[in-house]
Amino acid sequence: MSDQIAVTDDGRIRTVRMARPEKKNALTQTMYAAMTQALHEAAVNNAIRCIVFAGTPGAFCAGSDIADFQKRAEGGLRSVTLHFLHALVRNPKPLLAAVDGIAVGIGTTMLLHCDYVVAAAGARFSTPFTKLGLIPEAASSLLGPLRMGHARAFALLVMGHPLSAEEAKAAGLVNAVVDAAALEDAVSQAAREIAVLPAEAVAVARKLMRGNLDDIVKRLDIEATCFKERLQSDEARAAFAAFLARKK
Ligand code: COA
Repeated sequence: MSDQIAVTDDGRIRTVRMARPEKKNALTQTMYAAMTQALHEAAVNNAIRCIVFAGTPGAFCAGSDIADFQKRAEGGLRSVTLHFLHALVRNPKPLLAAVDGIAVGIGTTMLLHCDYVVAAAGARFSTPFTKLGLIPEAASSLLGPLRMGHARAFALLVMGHPLSAEEAKAAGLVNAVVDAAALEDAVSQAAREIAVLPAEAVAVARKLMRGNLDDIVKRLDIEATCFKERLQSDEARAAFAAFLARKK
């Protein structure tokens, strides 16, 4: 387990907290592996009824670690991100998220797999994939247009236009917007509400609502192939180098 992913169980509720605040919770491969493990464990633990993703004050998640992207582009790192995405899609328990501050890249696209999302009023959702020479991942090319319509999904996922908390709510990505100070209580309340419902009925209802998971996994895999190709591109390499050099 990574010490930058804190997994805690409170009764029936598992919280998976991204905790690398000095890097705005940018996700390393070690962190992805720890989150995958937390999902796999919860899937087979009947005591766990739902899972909450959380970050730290002011940062839900800054997306994948760009230094890792660079290592992958140079062939020095084998990605485990796809394992996490498969676990996210196949996980049978309701997923919630508490978003404060920035939610970038996968910090936003993972929310398309969540069932209930609470955002702090100042939260900001963005997916600068194409600006990095990359393409949308996490099956967002499929789920984004389904969730918010092609027009809004294109502005978010391709043009990189960010959404405020209220805009994300209007787009159907977020259930509730609250003051930052009330965020953890609001998500806990929703998690407790879900956790006391009859588990089998919740599981069947959720499964029916999510449609054909094989289609989602297929899209993940296609995106992953394109993403890997894009990582090697001149566009992406230049963008990674520019980001990593920007303060030197
Ligand atoms: N990968 C690696 N490091 C990251 C990171 C990422 N995705 N996001 C942030 N960091 C690092 C910064 O390099 C900085 O490190 P340093 O202090 O060693 O220089 C630290 O986290 C704090 O980030 P900073 O940029 O100073 O904070 P900010 O509040 O001004 O801006 C962001 C926050 C998230 C808007 C900005 O860091 C950013 O644009 N990050 C890249 C996001 C991204 O493109 N993710 C990939 C999407 S596919």
